[in-house]
Amino acid sequence: MSHAEFIPLAERKRLRVTEIKKHNLANILTHWFNVAMWALLLPTGLAILASPRLGIVPELWQTLMRNVFGGTANLIEFHYSVGLVWMAVLTFNILLGFRKYFIPFTRERMFLDADDIEWLKVKPLQMIGLAKAKRLPPQDVYNAGQKLYMYMVIVGTLTIGLTGLIMTFHKLIPWPWLIQWSLPIHFSAVGMVVAGLIIHVYMGAVFPEEKEAFFSMFTGKVSAWYARRHHAKWYWRKMEEEMDWEDRVLAEGRALKADESAAD
Ligand code: HEM
Repeated sequence: MSHAEFIPLAERKRLRVTEIKKHNLANILTHWFNVAMWALLLPTGLAILASPRLGIVPELWQTLMRNVFGGTANLIEFHYSVGLVWMAVLTFNILLGFRKYFIPFTRERMFLDADDIEWLKVKPLQMIGLAKAKRLPPQDVYNAGQKLYMYMVIVGTLTIGLTGLIMTFHKLIPWPWLIQWSLPIHFSAVGMVVAGLIIHVYMGAVFPEEKEAFFSMFTGKVSAWYARRHHAKWYWRKMEEEMDWEDRVLAEGRALKADESAAD
């Protein structure tokens, strides 16, 4: 929440029942497609990490997955096939919606501004019980933490996809060092995204204050109350846009009336 402001009860009630669109359908579908892909890739990917010397995955999990898929070869085939579908759909999505969705989303929702930088300085301190008297600056459609996570997801997905493609098509690649480096880089990028994902899923699905954000990932909407309390900068911009629109409609109405009276 950005700052505590006094809002009279009647206004609160109105805000709670007024809905504001936050996500479009393309965004929602891409998000849940991504979740489905991670749900298939992570358990199978971890089971491929065969060496008990690494000690990352319990042997029981590896045995279970190999039995489910009928052997390591099938497991690997399933993993890279899902990976290829994931990359193909994401690439298709980005190319198809490049001008309509991708560019506006990046321009309007992803850049960090001075308020975000201040938020990133204050929020971590508040999380460890310091700087309690400091106010958090108002946030846009996404808060600065969410924006940072988006960068992490983009860099992570690109790295995972690229190294995955190198490993899948290793026979076509003449540089053995590139294939050898791909596995640790692939694995580290997954680790980075998963570390952020733990916080992301906790904030999205468990944290009570963010309940509305979770449902917005299905309905596309949040209440004006939630928007004003958590994303004040976005909320007030929306209000300004609505007022500009109202002014334009009124001005057009007045001009039309004036034209009609002149014609009479
Ligand atoms: C069960 C798992 C997940 C849950 C419950 C979840 C929940 C959410 C919620 C509630 C939001 C909206 C935040 C807001 O509007 O303020 C969101 C956005 C986002 N999530 Fe997830 N998420 C999950 C998995 C993932 C995964 C696997 C990724 C990618 C690695 C991901 C990446 C993103 C990104 C980049 C956004 C911001 C862009 C957008 O709105 O589409 N999420 N998520």
